[in-house]
Amino acid sequence: MKIGIDRGAPVSLYRQISQSIRTQILQGLLPDGYRLPPERRLAETLGVNRTTILNAYRELKAEGLIGGHVGRGTTVVGRRPEPATGAPVPQIRWSDLLRPTASGPVEIRDLMAHSEARDVILLSAGFPAPDLTPVELVRGETEAVFAERGAGALVYAPTEGVSTLRRALAALMGDRGVDCRPDDVLVTSGSQQAIDLVTRVLVEPGDVVVVEEPTYFGALRVFGAAQARVLGVPIDAQGMRTDLLEHVLRRYQPKLIYTMPSFQNPSGALMSGERRLQLIELAERFQVPLVEDDVYADLALEGAAPPSLKALDRHGFVVHVSSFSKLLCPGLRVGWAVVPRPLLRRLARAKETADLQTGTLGQMLVERLLRSGAYANHVQRVRESYRARRDAMQESLHEHARDWASWSLPRGGSYFWCRLAQPMPVDALLARAAERRVTFLPGTLCFAQEPAGGYLRLSFSYAKPGEIREGVARLSRAVHDARESSAVTAAAETSPPLV
Ligand SMILES: Cc1ncc(COP(=O)(O)O)c(C=O)c1O
Repeated sequence: MKIGIDRGAPVSLYRQISQSIRTQILQGLLPDGYRLPPERRLAETLGVNRTTILNAYRELKAEGLIGGHVGRGTTVVGRRPEPATGAPVPQIRWSDLLRPTASGPVEIRDLMAHSEARDVILLSAGFPAPDLTPVELVRGETEAVFAERGAGALVYAPTEGVSTLRRALAALMGDRGVDCRPDDVLVTSGSQQAIDLVTRVLVEPGDVVVVEEPTYFGALRVFGAAQARVLGVPIDAQGMRTDLLEHVLRRYQPKLIYTMPSFQNPSGALMSGERRLQLIELAERFQVPLVEDDVYADLALEGAAPPSLKALDRHGFVVHVSSFSKLLCPGLRVGWAVVPRPLLRRLARAKETADLQTGTLGQMLVERLLRSGAYANHVQRVRESYRARRDAMQESLHEHARDWASWSLPRGGSYFWCRLAQPMPVDALLARAAERRVTFLPGTLCFAQEPAGGYLRLSFSYAKPGEIREGVARLSRAVHDARESSAVTAAAETSPPLV
């Protein structure tokens, strides 16, 4: 074994030594089982400190290139057996390679798969129906983007977003009472990415994240992936219970509080103006950032919602995230975040590693829709349609569900949050609903901890009023089926053996 070191080089001595040994091992010059000199001897030979050799050996051990054996000193570790050439290629075992993840009882994509079957009424979908998607408007405006920008609509754009869209979004936020500049806006691939990026730059494994209880399951997935400790604070008709939040803040130092003040997903709750002020005051007092997810804010069906948290944020505690998914079309994947200055660069860097940028064409299209007023007109139409759909759901729940659920009328958003009079296993109810060709979102997905009682989230954004009526009737039959089958099972379990 030959090691040359250069004391004038900018690389530390231990790195030079480990690099030299590594190269010799990888080139096969030091064979499997080759015995390296003891640390003290090599230190003397090279005229370096013994800890220098210790550090070099430690690094190579961590890489699995060398190993220590009592009585045999340090030796080169054998390579993995050479795969035979020409032999049949065994199947790659992906399941052995995957990192472990937390997954809930129902996978969201399973619900989506079921939703593609024909004649199924989707009361689970949290996005606008095809009949509300402005296809012609989007087609016309896309052509206009190409006429205006040509190939410029298809090139890479800055990670932070196309500058004209950032300007338009700052103006939109200005209309909503938020004083911000284009530089404060980060365009994201949907609001989901904004939640993910904020979490990536702030939350370390074991950090506490506070959420409402119930909350948006997609955010729970993000916090789970970050290995956060998620604590739920219950909501009431006024939104997050700030009295309970205060206890949590006294006990823990959360990294962030995630909240949906307007027409919360899944409960539809609208946080009162007073609660919003209390929430900001608590965030400031306990020095905890607030992530305000405002994707449903434009879906007020009875008068405007109170000002957003960002509009009340005087000291830069609020990260505001929103999106065009819920009113325009989710497939465009255009969302945005209004971000306190010190955070924006870090978020942009995290976005760079995720997807470099949000699609240029979609950004330019949205900018045109905002500039021309077409977006505002479309929002108006969607709201009217949602009001009719919500009322249809309210009436049919009243007709079919009074004996098995309770709920309150949402004043906006897309959802009814129904509490089952008698909790029942989600899987059983999902299966009965599938037989009846209707879907719902199981409430269990919306809690960080297992909820007391059973809940269903029913969406009125996707199905038309007639379908909603039929869907609720089907669901009611499914609930009765599930009740009957659980009664049969319970009776079978409690009845005495016949022989
Ligand atoms: C509260 C909330 N936030 C964020 C999202 C993500 O939406 P997108 O990434 O399409 O903007 C959703 C979608 O259901 C949502 O309900």
